[in-house]
Amino acid sequence: MLSSSLEYPISFVSAGFEPLRVHLLRQNYSSIFVLVDNHTQQHCLPILEAALQGFSLIIIAIEAGEQHKNLQTCQYIWSAFMQGQADRKSVLLNLGGGVIGDMGGFCASTFKRGMDFIQLPTTLLAQVDASVGGKLGIDFEQVKNGIGLFGSPQAVFMFTDFLGTLPLMEIKSGFAEMLKHGLIDSLAHWQSLLLVSDWTSVQWQPLIEQSLQVKKQIVLQDPFEKNIRKSLNFGHTIGHVLESLSWQTTQPLLHGHAIAIGLIIECYWSTKLLELPTATLVAVRDYILSVYGKYDLIQLDLQAVGNLILQDKKNENQIIKATLLAKIGQAKINIAIPSTLIKEGLDYYINLK
Ligand SMILES: NC(=O)c1ccc[n+]([C@@H]2O[C@H](COP(=O)([O-])OP(=O)(O)OC[C@H]3O[C@@H](n4cnc5c(N)ncnc54)[C@H](O)[C@@H]3O)[C@@H](O)[C@H]2O)c1
Ligand SMILES: [Zn+2]
Repeated sequence: MLSSSLEYPISFVSAGFEPLRVHLLRQNYSSIFVLVDNHTQQHCLPILEAALQGFSLIIIAIEAGEQHKNLQTCQYIWSAFMQGQADRKSVLLNLGGGVIGDMGGFCASTFKRGMDFIQLPTTLLAQVDASVGGKLGIDFEQVKNGIGLFGSPQAVFMFTDFLGTLPLMEIKSGFAEMLKHGLIDSLAHWQSLLLVSDWTSVQWQPLIEQSLQVKKQIVLQDPFEKNIRKSLNFGHTIGHVLESLSWQTTQPLLHGHAIAIGLIIECYWSTKLLELPTATLVAVRDYILSVYGKYDLIQLDLQAVGNLILQDKKNENQIIKATLLAKIGQAKINIAIPSTLIKEGLDYYINLK
């Protein structure tokens, strides 16, 4: 049986990482590995090393970026485990964004049939989304997250100060997942996010906690995405496809920026197929455009969108099904999307002023 998702503690830590130190001492691991990419090695590792003085750490460093979330990098990581004589009493600390968390978790879970790992998410996206929920994996033959499994870390420790060195583009990428959580959760949650305007002075912890609460509640009810977890796909049916198409252009979209466009288009679909009020669509659209600006969709191969959506592993029997909103705080899963609405939704975005 696959392990279900949320039996592990998720805690916020401050400088000093006391709960992590206590955890490591208690577990008495035979060795401690730390997976970083070149950015987290520079910005986050010194902080972790200072907090874990007295522990002997074996650092595994890889290149940053989604293009390295592949089998070749896993081989490198597994080899580093071998060279460092990792055994099933070792632990891997994943210090990074979703790429490090997903791939490090995958490598640890499969090494000698599974060694412990701990998530230390350093991006907003990883703190509100990727580090929680048990999905681990890598990209394979053009398929994002094509190989992977559900597996649980021993613990997740969030240190919001890491966000201080994260580029604004990356902050906004994670923020789109928070907007999604707000929209599917409640009007009050959504409205609390509208107050974010000065990106340099945001108090992240309460907002992250609120966002995580949504993800945790949903994952707890449906860890393996059989039903209600699909509501977390709001904005992703078309957003994912726009993201992949943008990689073929000189203006690739970060995941959350594509999802922000997806949220607008899928709110538009919601006004057509459910009873989402047009005023809500307008409010969502205006706020998202104020944060992300407008992206030039015309440069993408938009003819391909319909077929690419159908290839998504979440669709079955050649019918496109998406999660839509009946109102803010009420997501509905498995809504069939007529193919005409795909072009209509894209046109709606393209024609926005
Ligand atoms: N498992 C899940 O449920 C889940 C959910 C959502 C996304 N994901 C996955 O997460 C990945 C995207 O995550 P991401 O956006 O965190 O990407 P990422 O890991 O590539 O990080 C984004 C960039 O920020 C840099 N960075 C990370 N922390 C930093 C810091 N504190 N200061 C400065 N730079 C820093 C990284 O080096 C990288 O260049 C995708 O592969 C996606 O499939 C997984
Ligand atoms: Zn997402």
